[in-house]
Amino acid sequence: MSKRLEGQSALVTGAAAGIGRAIAVRLASEGARVLVADINGEGAAETAREIGASASVCHVDVTQRSSIAAMVAEAVARHGRLDVTVSNAGIMDRMPFLEMTDDFWNKVIGLNLSGAFMCGQESARQMVSQGGGGRIVFVASNSGLFGGRGRAAYGASKAGLMNLTQSMAIELAEHNIRVNAVGPGPTKTRDDQGEVPPPSVMARMPMARFGDPQEVAAVAAFLAAEESSFVTGHTYFADGGYTVAGMMEG
Ligand SMILES: NC(=O)c1ccc[n+]([C@@H]2O[C@H](COP(=O)([O-])OP(=O)(O)OC[C@H]3O[C@@H](n4cnc5c(N)ncnc54)[C@H](O)[C@@H]3O)[C@@H](O)[C@H]2O)c1
Repeated sequence: MSKRLEGQSALVTGAAAGIGRAIAVRLASEGARVLVADINGEGAAETAREIGASASVCHVDVTQRSSIAAMVAEAVARHGRLDVTVSNAGIMDRMPFLEMTDDFWNKVIGLNLSGAFMCGQESARQMVSQGGGGRIVFVASNSGLFGGRGRAAYGASKAGLMNLTQSMAIELAEHNIRVNAVGPGPTKTRDDQGEVPPPSVMARMPMARFGDPQEVAAVAAFLAAEESSFVTGHTYFADGGYTVAGMMEG
């Protein structure tokens, strides 16, 4: 494994499980010291154990500004600065549009979009004040590109996140802070998802399988590393071709 992030200070939200855990492990394997941040302390501790000495755990609720500010302060206290933030924490809850309550809408938007906004802003403020630039990586979704049944809130949150990525990239370029997103397609993060995606997904999935969290983490690591030094404002999909597929037969 290359060491593209040797000695750098990184934080990953939602790192107690799934894609966030894979990203934290990957950044650490590339030499970063990683703050494993999550609302689930037990899961975060497990991720940190998997990484070893270069990881530390931080409790965070990304719906709360004060909690996010404390997380950024913790990264700086432990590692002297903050070079990389991966804002990954999110929920994929579904509800039919006609039944969707304000509480449901606000919960999904509050975590997936407002949470990412606050993580991005608190991180960027730290990166600007310390100097030397930085990288911010969001975790979007194919659901941000097109509509989906039951996904009015989730899709809107991820579409908003991709536009936030663009606006932040423009405003932060003068500070040498790059802002990008990785867009996972259907990714196997739990045993109960089955061996292959459901037929509705397979119908437009050229690679005909789930993604592995490590395949998403590889793209996040690229976007966090100097190797992507001229890339900013983009969402890079790791989705087996799901978002480019049109007619699959004929
Ligand atoms: N798994 C997929 O197929 C898929 C596809 C596209 C996008 N994504 C996106 O990837 C990201 C990670 O998804 P996942 O499948 O690994 O999810 P997951 O549920 O396995 O992990 C999400 C993590 O976020 C944490 N979290 C939840 N609320 C939090 C809060 N308020 N503060 C801090 N942490 C909180 C959870 O404790 C958990 O550890 C999400 O943003 C999701 O939208 C996932």
